[in-house]
Amino acid sequence: MAYKVPFVDPGKHYRHLKDEIDAAITDCLSKGDLIMRKQLRDYEEHLAAFVGTRYAVGLNSGYHALHFSVIAAGLGPGDEVITVAHTFVATISAIVHVGATPVLIDVGKDYNMDMDALERAITPRTKAVLPVHLNGRLCDMDRLMAIAKKHNLIVIEDAAQALGARYDGRVAGSFGLAGCFSHFPFKILGAFGDGGAITTNDPEVTRIATLLRYNGEDRETGEYHYHGYTALLDNVWAAVLDVKLKYLPRWIEWRRKIAALYHQGLSGIPELALPHFAGEKYFDAYQNYVIRTKKRDELAVYLKEQGVETLIHWPKPVWEHKGLKLGEHHLPETESICRQVLSLPMSAETTEEQVDYTVDCIRNFFA
Ligand SMILES: Cc1ncc(COP(=O)(O)O)c(C=O)c1O
Repeated sequence: MAYKVPFVDPGKHYRHLKDEIDAAITDCLSKGDLIMRKQLRDYEEHLAAFVGTRYAVGLNSGYHALHFSVIAAGLGPGDEVITVAHTFVATISAIVHVGATPVLIDVGKDYNMDMDALERAITPRTKAVLPVHLNGRLCDMDRLMAIAKKHNLIVIEDAAQALGARYDGRVAGSFGLAGCFSHFPFKILGAFGDGGAITTNDPEVTRIATLLRYNGEDRETGEYHYHGYTALLDNVWAAVLDVKLKYLPRWIEWRRKIAALYHQGLSGIPELALPHFAGEKYFDAYQNYVIRTKKRDELAVYLKEQGVETLIHWPKPVWEHKGLKLGEHHLPETESICRQVLSLPMSAETTEEQVDYTVDCIRNFFA
């Protein structure tokens, strides 16, 4: 179905940058620069500079950024890793796949880790905490880093949704041992297929992730140091991402403008909660604009009928997917969020007219 207001508009996104993107791709293809060439190194250097870390390692997905970070942190069987239940499943799978135990805790009203719950969940077996900066907003990093320091916990940030978001002037992905990013096409900085990256100040994390992404092989010596994976960020995607990275600050400003327009248009509806949370240290990048209402399901149907595309992140608590074998949990905020949240159209291509139309539809629904 063709929506009047699509959730995102990848075709329009490409058309805006067509000349530069086509040139970058043609350059890779005509030179035969396909695997681990200059374009990849350039992108890694520029991403690290953007985030404010010494290193970045380009990978094929946000999942592998998480997986390799967890491996590089030395986590494994017997170790507990605390993370949130309200996240994309990949966060949790990365912990499960190294044999460590994910300890799922609840989130607060801003959809991010509840720091009181974090303190309560720490046991002698807790080795790491994996905060997720959801929807383009950082967690309370003052508290998180203080708790981690007190209990000697490794911090790995799932910043898949937060590239360019800041807390107290510091960019997501620069606080912990490693920051994990996703370049899935609909992320703030997306490739035309999946991609991802780790940012870190740690040379050892960089070394391990660089080996793991290419079957454990040291390309200089030909030595295989690990049973690795095939998880490279392809050169062509790196070249495209490098073009797009220059526009990222501008796109984030636009997302913030769209969020401000939604805020202006939707304020004052008693049955609707908007994602504008207090805290002057926060600079939110608005990967998603998430509204919350008990009438979520009816609203989603109504908006679809009006030609507005929305998404639900995520409609059921992760532990209720029985195949994941995550056990039983009672996390009230996570459970209520699953029933109540709705993500509105939000991208660098979303226009003011589209926001106005979406706002009118939502106001009509509640009228
Ligand atoms: C919070 C979060 N973590 C991890 C990922 C995984 O990233 P990818 O899809 O690139 O593997 C995503 C992507 O949707 C995400 O939103």
